[in-house]
Amino acid sequence: MLFLEKFFNPKSVAVVGASRTPGKIGYTILENLKYSFNGKIYPINPNAIEILGLKAYPSVLDVEEPIDHAIIVVPAEIVLKVIKEGIKKKIKVFTIISSGFSEIGEKERELELKKLCKTSRKIRILGPNCIGVYKKDLDMIFFPKKRLKRPPEGFISFITQSGAFGSILLDIMANEGVGVSKFISIGNKVDIDEIELIKYLEKDLSTRCIAIYLESVKDGLEFIKTAKRVTKTKPIVCFKAGKTEKGVEAVASHTGALAGSAQIYSAAFKQAGIIEAKSSEEIFDYAKALANQPVLKDNKIAVVTDGGGFGIVATDTAINCGLELPSLENSSIKALKSFLPPYASTKNPIDITGDATVERYQKTLEIVLKDKNVSGVACIALMQIPTLTDEIVDVLKDCKVFGKPITVCSAGSDYVLERNRKLERLGIPVYPTPERAVKALKVLYEYGKILKRK
Ligand code: ACO
Repeated sequence: MLFLEKFFNPKSVAVVGASRTPGKIGYTILENLKYSFNGKIYPINPNAIEILGLKAYPSVLDVEEPIDHAIIVVPAEIVLKVIKEGIKKKIKVFTIISSGFSEIGEKERELELKKLCKTSRKIRILGPNCIGVYKKDLDMIFFPKKRLKRPPEGFISFITQSGAFGSILLDIMANEGVGVSKFISIGNKVDIDEIELIKYLEKDLSTRCIAIYLESVKDGLEFIKTAKRVTKTKPIVCFKAGKTEKGVEAVASHTGALAGSAQIYSAAFKQAGIIEAKSSEEIFDYAKALANQPVLKDNKIAVVTDGGGFGIVATDTAINCGLELPSLENSSIKALKSFLPPYASTKNPIDITGDATVERYQKTLEIVLKDKNVSGVACIALMQIPTLTDEIVDVLKDCKVFGKPITVCSAGSDYVLERNRKLERLGIPVYPTPERAVKALKVLYEYGKILKRK
């Protein structure tokens, strides 16, 4: 696994195909690297002397100092040539951004790359046809920061077979304040694949949930074996794309892979303890709950709401997905009645009504989260009501001390989104609908069951 350290924590990086022209991929990669990475950067371009204030070199062979990691961003026809130069330079790890391999039918070119990797035995390759790696201090994504925001640091690590799917998700996560530890785009995975990365992330202390966008797996048995072990300590949530006949065809022309049957994947995920996301929305929803909240130990939840209708929708969703809303203990009901207005409801769902204050939320949540009949809470906090102040953010954050999972539904526009971002940064997963907040709790229940498996 040492070589993966060089992918994530290199001391020096070369950008082979660093471009002088703003707007080109090789320019943007260099720019993003320059403003994120603290080590040495070597732009490689035979036609340039200097790019973005950094001295450029005609070839990696002209650099005197050692290079840990080379990012390749030249046209596919010359990728093999520059890799061979890299091998001479004793570079150990390569990320190949270039497209133009098996995904367009250039199977021979990809095979040659594979052979080169195998025969040299000393090099490892990420890609080709990928976006590479993103972490706070190593940003090689070729999207300009003005167009694609970077998320804050957090506990989700994301492996993606589609660079576009992954990076757009990064933008969405950044907008919502959801934290990311590592992002790895694997593209055609000529060498490094999801299995190796799962093994690496298993031991990575800053990863609490592994999220995967997957189109294909080459070694199914090893994938299941690895995931089965890893999910005993770390959740994996996976979204498999390419499930229909047409979708399978699309996968072949995207990453040159065979997608396989949807049923087989679902069965394999189940066996391996992987939480299956059925949509691009679900992978994001589930990963942020799994990365930041404890598991739900049984299926008993409470819904706390300041909006009656939202509470009913949350209740219906809970029942439909196999969760229960038990009555609270008598002592809890009595305690709630002592301060709630007579028009509030102490039945589960607990409706603290449209004039709820921060204090009302705080007292209610404390009573409910201490209640022995309740193992987790879906809290609907509609921030628009005039009585609710910004301290609601701290009240929800402080719920962590009770050791039970909480998900929040907070729907709305700008005013609300600003508060939601704060909550996400504090590790409270927030959803724009009651359905999604409840389904995230259900997934915490599912993962709890996986942990109990023998
Ligand atoms: N070594 C280093 N640099 C070289 C060499 C060489 N031997 N030869 C030429 N260069 C320079 C060029 O001079 C150029 O720099 P300049 O702009 O300053 O002149 C630079 O390398 C790039 O070369 P170009 O020929 O201009 O190539 P271009 O930038 O147009 O395209 C690219 C290269 C981006 C790699 C393209 O071939 C490609 O693959 N694009 C798609 C990439 C992609 O989308 N990948 C991810 C897919 S995501 C997924 O999930 C599937």
